[in-house]
Amino acid sequence: MSAHLTYAKASKYDPDVVYAHCSGPGGLKVAEFIADRLNLDPGLRLLDVGTFHGYQSCFLAKEYDVVVVGIDPWVDPSDPEGLLCVEHLARNARALSVDGSVLPVRAGVPETCFADASFDAAYCTTTLEMIRGSEGEARYRACLAEVCRVLRPGGLLGFGEPMHLDVEMPKDLAPVYTKGEGADIEGWAKCFAAIDETTEAFRSVGFEVLEADYAPDAQLWWEEYCQYTPGCKACPDGEEAQTIRSDGGRWLSFGYVIAQKPCPTVARGPRVPREAGGGDDKPAAGLI
Ligand SMILES: C[S@@+](CC[C@H](N)C(=O)[O-])C[C@H]1O[C@@H](n2cnc3c(N)ncnc32)[C@H](O)[C@@H]1O
Repeated sequence: MSAHLTYAKASKYDPDVVYAHCSGPGGLKVAEFIADRLNLDPGLRLLDVGTFHGYQSCFLAKEYDVVVVGIDPWVDPSDPEGLLCVEHLARNARALSVDGSVLPVRAGVPETCFADASFDAAYCTTTLEMIRGSEGEARYRACLAEVCRVLRPGGLLGFGEPMHLDVEMPKDLAPVYTKGEGADIEGWAKCFAAIDETTEAFRSVGFEVLEADYAPDAQLWWEEYCQYTPGCKACPDGEEAQTIRSDGGRWLSFGYVIAQKPCPTVARGPRVPREAGGGDDKPAAGLI
């Protein structure tokens, strides 16, 4: 059996609590895996797109000492109180003592209303694939384009979502994955893409892809999802848990992309000799 990655930060948190507040495979392990690739200097401003209860947002604020703006437009459909996801985020930020560095905002991509270049970094997990499934590929790309717009030039997006391997869907699972619409397991054929299709979408909206692959612990993250997510825990023989277990990583995976908003190329003029008042890198007057 291959060794799993270690998660020094995420392993401090109780997985039952993590999966009660995270919606997707990997929980805080995904957050740590991606955040470790983002060069998160303390104090930088990070946009978290699709927070759900914001446990990952709070984790990023607490463990990486960044300022997080978390956006989510919807109510948590499983919440008996009918609270907005961003209200859960606000509660979790208080509970984890990061309310001074986490700002919950009820908003969604692609209509965020933030000014261009508002953020130093962005983060998004297990969110846009649902938009692909329900609203199509063009809307998925519009969401990515919006994240690119609000990132500063040179800023990084750390992105992860359930993806399928670049193989034919196993015949025994196709009846489940293709049965319906929406974000639940019966709509996953429409929601999920392979890593190459995903990176192509990133490039099409102007990102440079620095790193992209299937996560090495994708199967572990799905196993944990089955073990701890409230729905699967309550119903271990239900369709979702059964199908994920029976997939066993044959089609289902989890992919990640680290992408950068390019810096505009600086138009350089002819070099001005030092004796004429120029430095080595100083362009001719009137040019930037
Ligand atoms: C499956 S949850 C993932 C949350 C979190 N990143 C995690 O992995 O635990 C996806 C969230 O995206 C939110 N969402 C749906 N449409 C959105 C949009 N257009 N913009 C931002 N978030 C959206 C949903 O309300 C939901 O809370």
